[in-house]
Amino acid sequence: VALVTVAVLVGAGCASSGPTHASGTTRGAAGAGTIGDHYFPTSGNGGYDVTHYDIRIGYSPDRPQIRATTTVESTATRMLRSFELDLAGFTVDRVTVDGRPADVSRHRAKIVVHPSTTLAESRRFVTRVTYHGVPHTITDPSEPKTADAGQLGWTRTSDGDVFVVSEPVGARTWFPGNDHPSDKATFAVTVTVPDSVAVAANGTLHRRAAPGRRQAWEWTMDQPMATYLATVVIAPMRVQRSTSAAGVPIRNYFRDDAFGFDSQSFTKTGTMIDYFSSLFGAYPFGAYGAVVVQPKIGYALETQTMSVFGSDMLGTDLDAEMTVAHELAHQWFGDSVGIRRWADIWLNEGWATYAQYLWAAHSNSSFDLDRTMIDLRASEGAKLTPPNNPGPDGLFTGSIYERGALTLHALRRTIGDTKFFEIAKQWNAKYRYSTATTTDFIALTSAVFGRDLTTFFHAWLDADTIPRLP
Ligand code: ARG
Ligand code: ZN
Repeated sequence: VALVTVAVLVGAGCASSGPTHASGTTRGAAGAGTIGDHYFPTSGNGGYDVTHYDIRIGYSPDRPQIRATTTVESTATRMLRSFELDLAGFTVDRVTVDGRPADVSRHRAKIVVHPSTTLAESRRFVTRVTYHGVPHTITDPSEPKTADAGQLGWTRTSDGDVFVVSEPVGARTWFPGNDHPSDKATFAVTVTVPDSVAVAANGTLHRRAAPGRRQAWEWTMDQPMATYLATVVIAPMRVQRSTSAAGVPIRNYFRDDAFGFDSQSFTKTGTMIDYFSSLFGAYPFGAYGAVVVQPKIGYALETQTMSVFGSDMLGTDLDAEMTVAHELAHQWFGDSVGIRRWADIWLNEGWATYAQYLWAAHSNSSFDLDRTMIDLRASEGAKLTPPNNPGPDGLFTGSIYERGALTLHALRRTIGDTKFFEIAKQWNAKYRYSTATTTDFIALTSAVFGRDLTTFFHAWLDADTIPRLP
């Protein structure tokens, strides 16, 4: 469900590079090869809006190849002669649109699909892409361009485990789609593997059918999800199930050989879910959990309903606990309420960081939140550049996390606890399962406060010098 208007047609050069179809009408336009987000101009596409992905993958831990079929249900937002999908690598075996073979060409990390007939505006259509090959990670464009810069997307370890972390643009490494957070869709992911391994993914495990000696793990994510939040983890794992006191189901997936150790980091998840539900509104999804992957990836990711943790993110100290709280808080701030453009990333990270401090204060009577914020501003403030519109390589910097959280604390001190938490709830109610922008946030906070807060936010989000905490 895309809300971005196409502002820049960066993909103009590639939009018409495919073969023209003799029998098709020449009326209708080529869908843009960009969605118009200038942080990642080659990400996302114009001319259609995805409503559902059905991704089916066959994998064996003893070899890196996958065989896959992804079905993409979309609505044309204009008359379309052709359209593009993000997909990096692979051999594309076959593409159909509404069951009829379509011409396809490749252009960098895009496939350009020419349906046999032009698609009318508002037409719902189904694109099916069959592909195979060895998935390749892509270098994380949000990290400094060093030799050990992080990798995004479908990642295979030397043991044959697989995990997927895609923020911001890694989804194209495993399925064709409209790879931008403004175009959310529901997902069904079915991975067929030998019975030596388990598969964790987003949403609900529907069934585990066993064709022969392989198991098809069928997961569905029934609430809209951004492409970067889709994950799959394949490893020898076991599930740990519980329920929060208020009734939210929890399923954690830990590797068999680390189960006891890994599970120690997640003993408070249920209490955290119920606490955040009391602050932000009911937990937005049907279940929650963590999956721990063996590599030390240096971060955790709030993949919807099933956060991925690198094995270096675990522990029983307050720091590790705050990371668990941080990824959980993202389920409200980032996942249910998503960002419409990458420039607004502080809305995700500022809230998740502030929420991790809220948890620390709630669960630990000696944790002084106000003091912590004052000290954070004093020690780091001079280094924290403005968090609004940080540029593609500034998405995950201290400015975003820390000055984002400080902005929210300053807001709370300015408008008072009652209105501050009223805003947290209204924000989640108003933009649930959708996307929003900083402008939307300023409008909502100003409405709840009863006075325009543009100047306040400008100072905290845009000014070079960080303001004093009120
Ligand atoms: N959103 C994740 C978190 O705050 C961090 C993702 C970092 N991503 C990256 N590509 N380095 O927990
Ligand atoms: Zn975060």
